[in-house]
Amino acid sequence: MTEAVLLVGGKGTRLQPLTINTPKPMVPAAGVPFLAHQLARARAAGVRHVVLATCYLAEVFEPYFGDGSAHGLRLTYVTEDEPLGTGGAIRAASDALGAAPGDPVLVFNGDILTGLDIRRLLHRHEQAQADVTLHLTRVADPRAFGLVPTDADGRVLAFTEKPGRPEEIVTDQINAGCYVFRREVIDTIPAGRPVSVERETFPGLLAGGARLHGVVDTAYWLDLGRPASFVQASADLVRGIVRSPAVPGETGEHLVLPGAHVEPGARLGGGTVVGAGAHVAAGAEVEGSVVLDGARVEADARVRASMVGAGARVGARTVLDGVVIGDHSDVGADNELREGARVWCGMSIPDAAIRFSAV
Ligand code: GTP
Repeated sequence: MTEAVLLVGGKGTRLQPLTINTPKPMVPAAGVPFLAHQLARARAAGVRHVVLATCYLAEVFEPYFGDGSAHGLRLTYVTEDEPLGTGGAIRAASDALGAAPGDPVLVFNGDILTGLDIRRLLHRHEQAQADVTLHLTRVADPRAFGLVPTDADGRVLAFTEKPGRPEEIVTDQINAGCYVFRREVIDTIPAGRPVSVERETFPGLLAGGARLHGVVDTAYWLDLGRPASFVQASADLVRGIVRSPAVPGETGEHLVLPGAHVEPGARLGGGTVVGAGAHVAAGAEVEGSVVLDGARVEADARVRASMVGAGARVGARTVLDGVVIGDHSDVGADNELREGARVWCGMSIPDAAIRFSAV
């Protein structure tokens, strides 16, 4: 039986205000908490027991996912009183694992959407007899990521977190946030104090002569840490550009959840999802966006690549493009917000109060 640890305890500061009331893995993407997609993908790869390493807003996971049986899994919840970082959280979660010392344990960051072939990663881990195997992906601009150069056999040569100087950019291979650990290696991570797996554990293992193996897999990969990528991920799930068994409906240009009301004459496209109890009025156009439960998009509003929080309202003729509207905010009519604007939760913007100028 394959076991996995899912890291879901981060504060998700880059995704605020979406993460003010909801931890990042519980923010809905394509109609269900993002975590549901990761659990479904893990289940499909043969994982049967998942330990959720929770911390920030830890109490919201169990009421939704319960013991996991509805998802074909056994779920165990481990909660840190203080954030222990990625490595500390993996160590804390290991007490709940049943794996023997030599067994493989999958570890997933809770904010990555990927079409990675998980079974292949496990197979390569066994083949290489590695202590840790890392999923690596290639990106055009690796500066914001952890670089992981490997030799011709896949053996990891170095770890460079968020390289600052041009000479440090020796590869386009980055740490993609999914690992296979040999169980006994997890138990070498110090317990009870914050540890970064990227900055401390991996470089320490490498310096100590451990076998660290990198598997480059160029399947779909997106880090959902920022609002624009979160919205993109939801749209890609709705459109089936990346497949998830947890999407609640047919894939296509839009997904309207039961209990939502879309008036005739409203236009939805680009992988838009409209949540339960949400309302989209006639003449509104919603493209590549997430409209959360109970939100309202009024007549002739134009919403593109944006996230409209739960219970929020977008006034008539208002234009949103690349914007996040926090839960229960009210954006009046005839406003124009673009390019990364974020309206905090519970805010009220009067009619015709905001205009956008590119100059
Ligand atoms: P930002 O605050 O926006 O950087 O997001 P984040 O808090 O999610 O941090 P980051 O993206 O670096 O975290 C990568 C993964 O590890 C995410 O799935 C987090 O939920 C998780 N994570 C980060 N720190 C902790 C921690 O202290 N405890 C636990 N349990 N998980 C963590």
